[in-house]
Amino acid sequence: MTETIALVTGANRGIGREIAAQLAARGCTVLAGSRKPPGEPAAEPGPAGGRIHHVRLDVTDPADIAAAAAWVEASFGRLDVLVNNAGISGPLQEQTPSTTSVAVLREVFETNVFAVLAVTNALLPLLRRSPAARIVNVSSGLGSLSWLGSPASPVGGRPPFAAYPPSKTALNALTVQYAKELRPHRILVNSVAPGACATDFVNGLPFAESITRTAAEGAAVAVRLATLPPEAEGPSGGFFDDNGEVPW
Ligand SMILES: NC(=O)c1ccc[n+]([C@@H]2O[C@H](COP(=O)([O-])OP(=O)(O)OC[C@H]3O[C@@H](n4cnc5c(N)ncnc54)[C@H](OP(=O)(O)O)[C@@H]3O)[C@@H](O)[C@H]2O)c1
Repeated sequence: MTETIALVTGANRGIGREIAAQLAARGCTVLAGSRKPPGEPAAEPGPAGGRIHHVRLDVTDPADIAAAAAWVEASFGRLDVLVNNAGISGPLQEQTPSTTSVAVLREVFETNVFAVLAVTNALLPLLRRSPAARIVNVSSGLGSLSWLGSPASPVGGRPPFAAYPPSKTALNALTVQYAKELRPHRILVNSVAPGACATDFVNGLPFAESITRTAAEGAAVAVRLATLPPEAEGPSGGFFDDNGEVPW
């Protein structure tokens, strides 16, 4: 196999853009999914880098998903890496558990959970054609129930939110189930926690100014799991950050 074909959702800005850039810098051909046409080059692969193609992909739009899958099949015939990065926080000021509406919960789950299943299942036939496919779900430390329950953990001091953290916990649960199903097919599936990074995502949060970690730093763990070597038998069904395994 000469090239690794990697699709990253939400690759037009923030952590996804950096994941795309870092994969391209490692020589991957990157399909940078975005619901907006690229205003500036999706990322800079560097002299030794692979190509980056823009692919229109609103992950909540079934027509976009079908069209993107058909384009990947027609253009490349297979997919080696899928990074489900696109995500939303939803309106955090409306996520105090006792006053959160079902509509807010549904909106956040639509992008962070349901769309991941839809995109993954549409691309799985192409991932199955890869000799060593990898799926990386970009989760969050806020999806760790162990961390949320421990005041001393990296997220223990965060206020209670009813939609975003549970959506990432549900995403982690999907990771485990996909890993179980796909292990016999040598497809490794993992969740990653990028850590709090200074992207548009955290704008408006009271502690935003204290966040100094860059999107590039946050992207690294996703890139590591996306580029597990072809002979690797694992990890799969795990949850990782820069420091190793994150407790569920
Ligand atoms: N930043 C952090 O501190 C942090 C921490 C932990 C986990 N994360 C996770 O990391 C991932 C990336 O976050 P980020 O910080 O890079 O956020 P960001 O700067 O807000 O970027 C989010 C990306 O997701 C895309 N997106 C949202 N809804 C989409 C949809 N329906 N279809 C396609 N793309 C969609 C956005 O596209 P548009 O430009 O079209 O809106 C954008 O490219 C998310 O899953 C987030 O939950 C972030």
